Amino acid sequence: MRFKYVCSDCGAVYETDEIMYLCPKCSKDNDGKTFSKGNLIVELSDEVLRKAKEKEHVRAEDFYPYETKDEDAYPVGITPLVKARRLNERSGLKNTFYKMDSQLISGSFKDRASYLVAQQAKAHGEKRIALASTGNAGAAMSAVGAALGLDIVLFVPESAPINKLMQSVLYGAHVIPVKGSYDDAFALSIEYTKTFGGINRNTAYNPMTIEGKKSISIELFEQMGRKAPDAVYVPVGDGCIIAGVAKGFIDLKRAGLIDTLPHLICSQSVKSNAISKAFKDGKFLPVKATTRADSISVGLPANGRMAVRYIKESEGWCVEVEDEDILNAQLELAHDAGLLVEPAAACAYAAYKKDADNIRRKLGKDASIVVLLTGTGFKDMAAFDGKVRLPEAIDPTLEAVREIHF
Ligand SMILES: Cc1ncc(COP(=O)(O)O)c(C=O)c1O
Repeated sequence: MRFKYVCSDCGAVYETDEIMYLCPKCSKDNDGKTFSKGNLIVELSDEVLRKAKEKEHVRAEDFYPYETKDEDAYPVGITPLVKARRLNERSGLKNTFYKMDSQLISGSFKDRASYLVAQQAKAHGEKRIALASTGNAGAAMSAVGAALGLDIVLFVPESAPINKLMQSVLYGAHVIPVKGSYDDAFALSIEYTKTFGGINRNTAYNPMTIEGKKSISIELFEQMGRKAPDAVYVPVGDGCIIAGVAKGFIDLKRAGLIDTLPHLICSQSVKSNAISKAFKDGKFLPVKATTRADSISVGLPANGRMAVRYIKESEGWCVEVEDEDILNAQLELAHDAGLLVEPAAACAYAAYKKDADNIRRKLGKDASIVVLLTGTGFKDMAAFDGKVRLPEAIDPTLEAVREIHF
């Protein structure tokens, strides 16, 4: 066995070849009134980690719980690490890097989780994967499914953003709009896999979604010269990405490749701050989420408890920003660095900007910082409505050009 499951709440260990979702003991009392319990962590065997340590260069595959196939059919990295000089001069933090996960094939970080769930399906001889999503996760799973020949059944609330859904339709997924909320779609997708079989890829429900996301940390370790950065700014909604980032560094530490985890900085909108609040008051209560940054608009985070635990374990902290700051950060990234990302991703940059003095005080101006840019801006150009506009067409004459002042 390359791995076992460990409950992140009660610590119960499950050594099994069966697919597991939640800890049966801890999840039975989940009632939606507080953050749910029973999310599982995939713990790799010492043998897997020992082998990884012996390699001159590590790759995500060295740390996966499944032997992976089809890497060429759907590569999930390595994404560019950009040193945005103009932005760094402005912040005075010259060792800041922007990790462009918007460049993954389906346009978001979610390819990382979807790829590993596809490997899980292959290992278990399953061809069908069902999930609920309002956007990036569904698109990513549908793209991986198209590449690897898997059937993807995607339940979406009928009000979900049309562009991200059309992407899944184009990839050939069975897209099922549901008259109801995301929670209704989530519940129905679980009933679906219980009744019709296949694997369920709901975020945080399937522990491989967190495990797949850790590949970013293995990449960062190699890209930064076989060391961890000092701090990573992560945009947070359900808390799955930040947990995946933490898990990657925890595995590197267990393997003896790094000594300390980077500080993980949970970046949220004030209008969707459930995890940040829970980190501060320890209460794990839902909030009313209304942020424009749709991918991080989450009232009751599916992986909230684990996320809070990992932020603490990394000696990290939370930064909340206004929606206005997120949209301005999005414009600044595009205008001054050539990085076009969606609002959720820009939240990490907005948090970094707000926190720059704190970073200088705590870690010094030479600290190595990574800002995760998790999704492309092309899927949601409407975010720029009212902020920029296309100029009027001119006559095709030099005279007309002279009349324009810029
Ligand atoms: C682009 C993007 N950034 C950030 C997030 C937040 O990730 P999580 O919900 O795991 O915290 C998401 C989740 O959908 C996303 O699509």
